[in-house]
Amino acid sequence: MDRQAARQKQRDLRSERLRLRPWTVADAAFHRRLWEERDERVPARRRITADGHPTVAEMQAWLRAYRATPAPGLLVVEQPRTAVPVGYCGLVENSVGHPAEPELAFEFLREYWGQGFATEASQVIVRRAAAIGYDHLASTVREWNTASLNVLDKLGFVPTGERERDPVHGNLLLLRLPLQ
Ligand SMILES: CC(C)(COP(=O)(O)OP(=O)(O)OC[C@H]1O[C@@H](n2cnc3c(N)ncnc32)[C@H](O)[C@@H]1OP(=O)(O)O)[C@@H](O)C(=O)NCCC(=O)NCCS
Repeated sequence: MDRQAARQKQRDLRSERLRLRPWTVADAAFHRRLWEERDERVPARRRITADGHPTVAEMQAWLRAYRATPAPGLLVVEQPRTAVPVGYCGLVENSVGHPAEPELAFEFLREYWGQGFATEASQVIVRRAAAIGYDHLASTVREWNTASLNVLDKLGFVPTGERERDPVHGNLLLLRLPLQ
């Protein structure tokens, strides 16, 4: 990629209030804080264990190994003025058997909830995903997760009617956004 194309790509990953950038190993403590704040209805394998795993060192190892696929992968969201990370947003592999439809994922520190950040960062990702040429994006969300469902609704995602029953953690709903 030439320098002009690289600069254009950086500009594309901004919104009025936010900048999205790749992870660095220095984001490990921030990433762990997101895990610490997770709702207790989130499956245990995705929460910090009683004996403190994943540790910051384990998070660092994860970040070193992280590959941003499907493009643009997951990106750290920060406020340009302070460069303090507030959350992450981006695309992950589809978890429900529609490999051509990457899944939108987002998570923000609780102190930044309710300011429209997830919606604004997701709009940047949706724009990027359309430019890359994906036909659809998917999203899976627990039925109880009203905030996430609100974000997806504002972005134009529609329920597909597909759901995975889970009486322990809450049913998982599949939503989809056409891009082309
Ligand atoms: C979901 C999440 C990313 C939303 O972040 P956010 O920056 O607060 O989202 P936004 O401000 O853009 O929009 C949230 C919307 O839900 C509403 N909302 C927030 N919490 C809510 C709640 N508990 N009940 C009902 N509505 C709620 C907000 O009012 C807002 O809607 P509005 O714009 O119509 O007022 C954030 O709550 C989070 O990080 N949750 C944990 C991780 C997670 O659940 N990720 C998604 C997995 S599918």
